[in-house]
Amino acid sequence: MIQPLVVLGATGSIGRQTLDVARRLGVDVYALAARRGSDELAALADDWPDAQIIASAPTGEERAALDRLGARVGFGHEAMEAVASAPGKTVVNGVVGAAGLRSSVAALEAGNRLALANKESLVAGGPVVLAALERGGGMLLPVDSEHSALFQCLIGESASTVRRLVLTASGGPFRGWSTPELEQVTPAQALAHPTWNMGKRITVDSATLFNKGLEVIEAHYLFDIPYEQIDVAVHPQSIVHSLVEFIDGSLKAHVGEPDMRVPIQYAVTYPDRAPGPLAPFDFSNRALSFDSPDRAAFPALDLAYQAGKVGRSAPAVLNAADEVAVHAFLDGRLGFLGIPEVVERTLDSVPVVDLETVEDVVEVDQQARSVAHSLLGGAC
Ligand SMILES: NC(=O)c1ccc[n+]([C@@H]2O[C@H](COP(=O)([O-])OP(=O)(O)OC[C@H]3O[C@@H](n4cnc5c(N)ncnc54)[C@H](OP(=O)(O)O)[C@@H]3O)[C@@H](O)[C@H]2O)c1
Repeated sequence: MIQPLVVLGATGSIGRQTLDVARRLGVDVYALAARRGSDELAALADDWPDAQIIASAPTGEERAALDRLGARVGFGHEAMEAVASAPGKTVVNGVVGAAGLRSSVAALEAGNRLALANKESLVAGGPVVLAALERGGGMLLPVDSEHSALFQCLIGESASTVRRLVLTASGGPFRGWSTPELEQVTPAQALAHPTWNMGKRITVDSATLFNKGLEVIEAHYLFDIPYEQIDVAVHPQSIVHSLVEFIDGSLKAHVGEPDMRVPIQYAVTYPDRAPGPLAPFDFSNRALSFDSPDRAAFPALDLAYQAGKVGRSAPAVLNAADEVAVHAFLDGRLGFLGIPEVVERTLDSVPVVDLETVEDVVEVDQQARSVAHSLLGGAC
């Protein structure tokens, strides 16, 4: 039986696709959470009349507008953590940014199944999330299509036979561009992803290759594998979602049309499978190509490897600085190539510490944001 769902980030790209999965499979929805008390959240409250509704950071006006929901509505991050830790639930975390960490930890500590799209939980707070998983005895299932692919390729295999994990990357809209060309990139160009339709931050991160870097760190924590055994291959068609190479030279790949409802559904139904949304795969006239990433033109990838290898709080700093820099780029206050520059300079400035609690991560996150803001001239 599929457990009732708690959908965090319900108004976003992952959240809406999760609700599509819930509708098709006839799964109950226990709670829906977002940041604002937006019209979109209010509309979802009407579509799902039995669900609790949480706005984690609404304005006074937004809060007043949701008050009509009476006892069904809750406010603040504590309310979001409370629904994430309600017993016997599958929590789909589709919040964007490090703001998703507390709820991931709450879900795992309560022994719930966490279907994790919010990669920032693991990037910023990997050791804290894994400790919560161990303490609570919950289940951690990846939603990111690459990690879902790797998870499925690894089923039935022994860790000692894995030579490397290969994450595929579409290469984003600027694949093949030179550094002088990248200097001119506008937010509108960066938001036009060739194969995936996603939220703004992940779309810009896909264009810089930061997203792939965050995914490398996510894979390190999810699969407990050294960075030296995690590789990236550019695959513009986004049909091969990732691969595992074994010591005998065999490669196992996970293949399918790019549609996030497939990995979301698998995380919800695992270990079972249910009929999905896609038509049978069409093999006519398909060409698949692979290449190495251009690490000089897209320095974000190596920055993420470096921060991952330093470990401890460095990935949290990387993530926080990137969140600030992407925001500034979208606002027109920073050029495209300024994003990795701000991240690198923030990494150089913030001391590396151990992370044991959520509060440790929050402190580092805030420190990194403040450094990144000051590098931007305090303008954001
Ligand atoms: N989209 C994809 O295809 C995809 C694929 C793989 C992984 N992911 C990962 O999934 C996550 C979500 O991505 P997305 O593309 O769905 O983002 P998105 O479309 O921008 O949606 C973000 C969601 O998070 C909510 N949110 C933001 N801050 C919050 C807070 N402090 N408390 C509660 N909710 C908050 C937003 O609520 P408001 O609407 O109120 O702001 C919105 O519902 C990211 O970590 C991304 O890397 C996404």
